[in-house]
Amino acid sequence: MSNYSDDLNILAVQVTRPVIEKTDLRAMRDAVRAELVGTYKGKRYMIRTYGCQMNEHDTEIMAGLLEVLGYMATTDEALADLILFNTCAVRENAENKVFGEVGRVRSLKQRNPELLIGVCGCMPQEKAVQEKIRTTYPWIDLAFGTHNLHRLPELIQEARASQETVMEVWDKAQVVLDDLPKARKEGVRAWVNIQYGCNKFCTYCIVPYTRGRERSRVLSSVVEEVKGLVELGFKEVTMLGQNVNDYGIDLGDADFADLLRAVGRVDGIERVRFTTSNPWNFTDRIIAAIAETETVCEHIHLPVQSGSNHVLRKMNRGYTSEYYIQLVEKIRAVIPQVALTTDLIVGFPTESEEDFSQTLALVEHLSYDTAYTFIYSPRPGTPAARYEDPIPMEIKKERLNRLMDLQNGISRIHNEKLIGQTVEVMIEGVSRTNVNVLAGRTRTNKIVLLDAPQELIHQTVLAQIDSAHTWTLRGTIVTQQVITA
Ligand code: SAH
Ligand code: SF4
Ligand code: F3S
Repeated sequence: MSNYSDDLNILAVQVTRPVIEKTDLRAMRDAVRAELVGTYKGKRYMIRTYGCQMNEHDTEIMAGLLEVLGYMATTDEALADLILFNTCAVRENAENKVFGEVGRVRSLKQRNPELLIGVCGCMPQEKAVQEKIRTTYPWIDLAFGTHNLHRLPELIQEARASQETVMEVWDKAQVVLDDLPKARKEGVRAWVNIQYGCNKFCTYCIVPYTRGRERSRVLSSVVEEVKGLVELGFKEVTMLGQNVNDYGIDLGDADFADLLRAVGRVDGIERVRFTTSNPWNFTDRIIAAIAETETVCEHIHLPVQSGSNHVLRKMNRGYTSEYYIQLVEKIRAVIPQVALTTDLIVGFPTESEEDFSQTLALVEHLSYDTAYTFIYSPRPGTPAARYEDPIPMEIKKERLNRLMDLQNGISRIHNEKLIGQTVEVMIEGVSRTNVNVLAGRTRTNKIVLLDAPQELIHQTVLAQIDSAHTWTLRGTIVTQQVITA
């Protein structure tokens, strides 16, 4: 898989209204000045999201703020009065895509002169992007970053009154954003922030610059949010952070293992997931907490990036391939059912054919369930962007293809092993390609397509796997008996 859109096969059940959390009523009043509540009744917004799950969740927070202001969601950009691009800076092509789209939607202003176009998220945190907006895209009405998305209501006010781009980007976090209202998509799965930022400074990565230093959310606040989600009917939470296994280090009272156990114990929660964990300090305590907490799913996304120690050192990943392999062996010994997925970068500056073959060997040896594979993209301001990079792009592309071919074959073998087995599937919605087919996920995060009645949407059932493909499984409901309703 070459991108993060692993939801391609599931079309969420038609959302009539997003769910705004009841528990956020107080926060809503705090987040939005009283005189602004409902001001934009009748207006419509659209948010286009790029990037990781954290960005998707930020979109839910901004949608929450906008709904408190009175805005309604639309999927038709011709009807929108506000189009926000929530951007990702992790690779150059993500950035180019956004600028292309921003250029395209400009023409919509001719039909609707009131239309506001905004750019937010990780890209505006980069000085070069701020400059580009000023010089090349002056019709952008508002631009803001990751640390001040709660300022959206005020920024809209300012943008409506101004002829020029209203640009407000904070270099670092100044307020806690935990309690903002969130307009979550209706369904069974919800994102929950547990940690913001990253301290790891891998030499290729822009995230520490766009998201700032690691800040953990206090354990009780996370647990309260999860309890509220269960009350609203959510059954699964994914705890989000760039380095979840560092959770709590800055606070000093609880660690990630404690958090897994505490969230896993919340009454009514069925499945707990987390992303992303770094191999660097994936402790025995964390492994034990996953193994011993029934609700915590047997899926670990453990990005390795490369199989070559030389490349890992240049990436500043802080581990060797031998350490990583030992960690995987330990995890598999304690959690035998575990599904392991990873991220891999090919074509890092000076990566030789020998380095690359070590990546292939590691992938073959560890047999991941899935891998997200990327060609290295130099990011301005990161150390690696200054490294000599003599490898031609054609060779990088060819390496990516070899790696993807290898992994696709391995993914298929993993899936084929499930044929004939009975697995627990939480049904999330209908399949994107056929609305008569339902789609859900196993605890190990594999997508299962089922012929089943629509009443089973949002329920957890047992299904037998009939056939396997590279990305999906096909199954039959074993019994109509629903495990949980
Ligand atoms: N915090 C997560 C990763 C967040 S970015 C972690 O450390 O695991 C998601 C993935 O994007 C990374 O794992 C890496 O594989 C990829 N990535 C990050 N920067 C990149 C770059 N400059 N070029 C190509 N891929 C990159
Ligand atoms: Fe980027 Fe490394 Fe931090 Fe992950 S751990 S966000 S790859 S700097
Ligand atoms: Fe992209 Fe920002 Fe996430 S750079 S990967 S959206 S933290």
